[in-house]
Amino acid sequence: MAQITLNTLDARKADGRRFAMVTAYDAGFALAAAGAGIETLLVGDSLGMVVQGRGSTVPVTMDDMAYHTACVRRGVEAGELRPLILADMPFGAANTPGQAAANAARLMQAGANAVKIEGGAWVAETVRHLTERGMPVCAHLGLTPQTADMLGGFRLQGRDEAAAARIREEARVLEEAGARLLLLECVPDALGRAVSEAAKAPVVGIGAGPSTDAQVLVLHDMLGLGEGRKARFVKDYLAGRGSITEALRAFGEEVRSGAYPAPEHCYG
Ligand code: KIV
Repeated sequence: MAQITLNTLDARKADGRRFAMVTAYDAGFALAAAGAGIETLLVGDSLGMVVQGRGSTVPVTMDDMAYHTACVRRGVEAGELRPLILADMPFGAANTPGQAAANAARLMQAGANAVKIEGGAWVAETVRHLTERGMPVCAHLGLTPQTADMLGGFRLQGRDEAAAARIREEARVLEEAGARLLLLECVPDALGRAVSEAAKAPVVGIGAGPSTDAQVLVLHDMLGLGEGRKARFVKDYLAGRGSITEALRAFGEEVRSGAYPAPEHCYG
């Protein structure tokens, strides 16, 4: 049994070997992803949309996150590869350091190895508070879906030099506060590259170009599920393949080889 840890991911970054992350919300898909060699799983609050059928992540509760984290943890227990499990802190769960610590502890007791918090430099104090208490944090920057309304909707972030500089500085401050992973969503390639080169912590990208240390996709997106217009970075890995396991395996291989994201998945 191989357990993927934060140290494994640090070593992968140091060696320049990319890794893959996919969202998982239940035991069956978690086991399938682990069996396909996906190194890290994210119990994303995107479950609000893809599992619960809601319009955004905002209504997702701590009870929801703890329940799905426990399901995912049980799913990977039996596998050969045990991916690192990251669980999202839902909207409103990290408003103060004390509240965040209580909620993060709950997710870790449910089976998470680390928690993900959306936000910029203003969550640095919370990142430090959790880190000092043994709860590793992934800081989610760029497009932060929980606060998309404040950002003017789901749109590319860090477009001009001032906005890019702000995101670079936030990444620096959050890593300095103890963040063990950074997740960068929907930014130009050059910004993804700059943040990844500057950070010691592995940077996971989604729509952040080809230079980040890892790539994540929402499971339902990479299986071609769902109606309507897809974000540019989405690729359907089930198309032309015979099984979900093959699709997951192909995603992992393309991330590791650098074939994904291709230019058509990037924001230039
Ligand atoms: O909740 C989620 O699925 C996420 C990804 C978009 C990274 O945060």
